[in-house]
Amino acid sequence: MQSLSTGQRGLLAVALTALPLTAALAQAPQGLSAEQIVRARQATYGLSAGTFGEMKMVVDGGGEVRPLVFGARMLQRWARTLPTMFPAGTDIPPTKAKAEVWSDRATFEQRAQAYAEAAARLAEVAQAGDRAAFATQWDAVRQTCSACHDRFRQEAQRPGS
Ligand code: HEC
Repeated sequence: MQSLSTGQRGLLAVALTALPLTAALAQAPQGLSAEQIVRARQATYGLSAGTFGEMKMVVDGGGEVRPLVFGARMLQRWARTLPTMFPAGTDIPPTKAKAEVWSDRATFEQRAQAYAEAAARLAEVAQAGDRAAFATQWDAVRQTCSACHDRFRQEAQRPGS
């Protein structure tokens, strides 16, 4: 310590004090309850379905698809995050998820991956402003929704949902 100036010593002291503090901050905050997680994922699914449905209205109305790139990218991000919204212990009311989400996790994650990849492609064709390709890819994304719902969600819902 002899060779350190007062300023350097001060900095070192701050750094050392900060270490345990940083570790404490890095810890997860108070967790959400299982029910809050179920409700948060259901709300996100609802929002994603809204975005996805509005895209179809643009396609059917012959509108510009370029502005849909943001929504498509958000669908892709949601698809990537989606499996983390089904932690153990969240198979509780009011969930519509089937028990297979937890018992056949690998398939569930594959279906989410397929969704993410299809949504990424949707963003690409939106970026290119290619209406025909967008319409085709929208259908491809919808198939990834259904492929997962068929196996992992209770109750058939209307197409596109
Ligand atoms: C990897 C599987 C998977 C994919 C892909 C998927 N979903 Fe779902 N979805 C689920 C599961 C499981 C639930 C039930 C969640 C719950 O109730 O806890 C659900 C629920 C929903 C709900 C109901 C939300 C509510 O209010 O209860 C809607 C709407 C929905 N999904 C739309 C979509 C759309 C649209 C897509 C594609 C663009 C899609 N999902 C892709 C698995 C998936």
